[in-house]
Amino acid sequence: MSFLFKHPKLYKTKMNILNRINDTDDITQEVRNKNVIIFGSGFTNYNFTRKVTKKTVGVDISKEFIEEANKTKLQNESFFVEDITKRLDLPSKSFDICLIPFVLHHIREENHIHVIEEATRLAKQRIIIYDHIRNSNILKSTVQMIYWKIADGGLKYRTEKEWYFLLDGRKYVTKRYGAMFGNIIKIVIKTDKKCGRF
Ligand SMILES: C[S@@+](CC[C@H](N)C(=O)[O-])C[C@H]1O[C@@H](n2cnc3c(N)ncnc32)[C@H](O)[C@@H]1O
Repeated sequence: MSFLFKHPKLYKTKMNILNRINDTDDITQEVRNKNVIIFGSGFTNYNFTRKVTKKTVGVDISKEFIEEANKTKLQNESFFVEDITKRLDLPSKSFDICLIPFVLHHIREENHIHVIEEATRLAKQRIIIYDHIRNSNILKSTVQMIYWKIADGGLKYRTEKEWYFLLDGRKYVTKRYGAMFGNIIKIVIKTDKKCGRF
């Protein structure tokens, strides 16, 4: 992992700069009055106004990050140390939305499907994933990988094809953006049983 994870203030500054450069969307309206669980919640650096949810539960493997999050905890928030590659001790469909923001690339590839399945078990309505996407052009991908090695330290950066392989059989929409050759993908997976357009 990047050394920045040991420095919450620096990490937040980096994320704020990147969110501006990459033009990350604000999902405040999507999470308003919803029960939300955040996998890999980090230091509460979210792309929505924190007070608007009905309830936010953040889970993260890092004890230090959870301690940091607890320092600025709001009334509607709670944070727990949990490993999302394991089954969580929470009832099925006990949340509306599961957010997985910039976490999967820090998880071993063989565990990605379990994480999506666990999110599907917990979320009544949808899963929202933000993550990196490795360019299929070798030159662009090399530049990205060098940057990620220095500034990010993740384990697996999926290409577009690899993302679609992971999502196969699910109902989803994607949006690609980001300043470094479209380096970010937003994926919204529908988890309710209702039919219709998505
Ligand atoms: C790049 S940070 C993203 C943090 C936050 N979601 C954000 O967007 O700023 C990745 C986060 O995933 C967490 N993480 C990595 N592996 C995890 C696991 N197995 N279970 C839970 N959290 C994990 C890390 O501790 C870290 O907080």
